[in-house]
Amino acid sequence: DKASIGVTGLAVMGRNLARNLARHGHTVALHNRSEQRTRDLVERFGAEGTFVPTYSARDFVAALERPRKLVIMVKAGAPTDAVIEEFAPLLDEGDIIVDAGNAHFADTRRREAELRDRGLHFVGTGVSGGEEGALHGPSIMPGGSPESYDTLGPLLEDIAAKVDGTPCCAHIGPDGAGHFVKMVHNGIEYADMQLIAESFDLLRGALGLEPARIAEVFRTWNTGRLESYLIEITAEVLAHTDAATGTPFVDVVADQAEQKGTGRWTVQVGLDLGVPITGIAEATFARSLSGHTELRSAARGLAGPTRAPLTGAAAERFADDVEQALYASKVVAYAQGFNQIQAGSAEFGWDIDLGAVAAIWRGGCIIRARFLDDIRAAFRAEPDLPTLLTSGEFRGAVEDAQDAWRSVLSTAVRLGIPTPGFSTALAYYDALRAERLPAALVQGQRDYFGAHTYRRVDREGTFHTEWATEGRPEQLA
Ligand code: 6PG
Repeated sequence: DKASIGVTGLAVMGRNLARNLARHGHTVALHNRSEQRTRDLVERFGAEGTFVPTYSARDFVAALERPRKLVIMVKAGAPTDAVIEEFAPLLDEGDIIVDAGNAHFADTRRREAELRDRGLHFVGTGVSGGEEGALHGPSIMPGGSPESYDTLGPLLEDIAAKVDGTPCCAHIGPDGAGHFVKMVHNGIEYADMQLIAESFDLLRGALGLEPARIAEVFRTWNTGRLESYLIEITAEVLAHTDAATGTPFVDVVADQAEQKGTGRWTVQVGLDLGVPITGIAEATFARSLSGHTELRSAARGLAGPTRAPLTGAAAERFADDVEQALYASKVVAYAQGFNQIQAGSAEFGWDIDLGAVAAIWRGGCIIRARFLDDIRAAFRAEPDLPTLLTSGEFRGAVEDAQDAWRSVLSTAVRLGIPTPGFSTALAYYDALRAERLPAALVQGQRDYFGAHTYRRVDREGTFHTEWATEGRPEQLA
């Protein structure tokens, strides 16, 4: 019997995807550069379904039914190109190569075009949910041709997470659309994690709460509108005690956040597309700042305010205020991320359905959250919504939260607690709703020193002021 799909690259993500497919009754061909991983998988998990272990590229390809579907799960970049070059020459017209790694969407566009010229389908797909998700049901974001989705879609939908019976998998759009959406997913993941981390820092710094107590606060939040995977695991991390020292786990971890690069890509692409994704950018820079140990130790002695914890009514209100600030900031971060998908879709002609993206993020992925269902509803009601902030669902909630949001930020500023994520979210909110922005002055400055010209509010056209002759105050008099 031929395999309905094959997986090459059997590190934990590839292995778990293969197991997930087999557990759903699909015969799965296996291949890995080193044979041991393949043997290992069959030995340990062979009973979960039907696997066809293979030990050469030729045997792997021969084990697959047509059109062949092979999933590549290797490191992004050169290793992915190498594996594609290993298999593509062995394939026939109409076969489908799936790249399920975290590839840069520009690489995916290039690979898709090259393989299309050779008669092959190339599907760059986002897969989110970490190891557990890959095994039990990830959120899947495939790009590539619609024809490839006709063949591949049912398999992917089968192994994807389900929310109310609906699979968290949908065809996102052609070529790199799937990997683009996965990239923005990760950027939003960075922003959300940063906002949650700031909430923890605020509760600790302004109320003097212990991590275990803050875990309870998060657990309570997780029963309301903030309900999400990230809040849930945050409570677990905060409640965890380090076995060796008996201190809160969070206090024994070095406070330098790392990244594998998808957040950085999101920011770079945001800049290229001209989309103000300030929440993702601040979150990415916050990780970078945390890692600058020399810079931090050089600056450690700089003066700051005394951090006296809040007392009385202010203290009592504070956790609830932080909940509101977190909610509002989160809406801003997601609004920005969806704007980036809109911009990418327009730039590359992908025609991405934002409601469908929100729908498949409701389950399986790292940013799965109750409020994604509201985002889905908002884009269903108005597919071209300029910003989530003005949609019926969110407008009221954010407006209601703004007093608490401002109050939390004043406390943070007063106590010297850094809140780059919360601060940029509120600045974005205030800038968007402003009648006039000081950008007018920036235009004046540009015109002064560089004759860069400006447009006027009262007349059409482009203007330049002869600053040397007409601009000096004494000459105006
Ligand atoms: C997911 C995650 C996954 C990975 C991140 C981690 O959706 O399952 O986003 O892709 O865990 O890439 O990213 P950093 O290492 O950059 O934090």
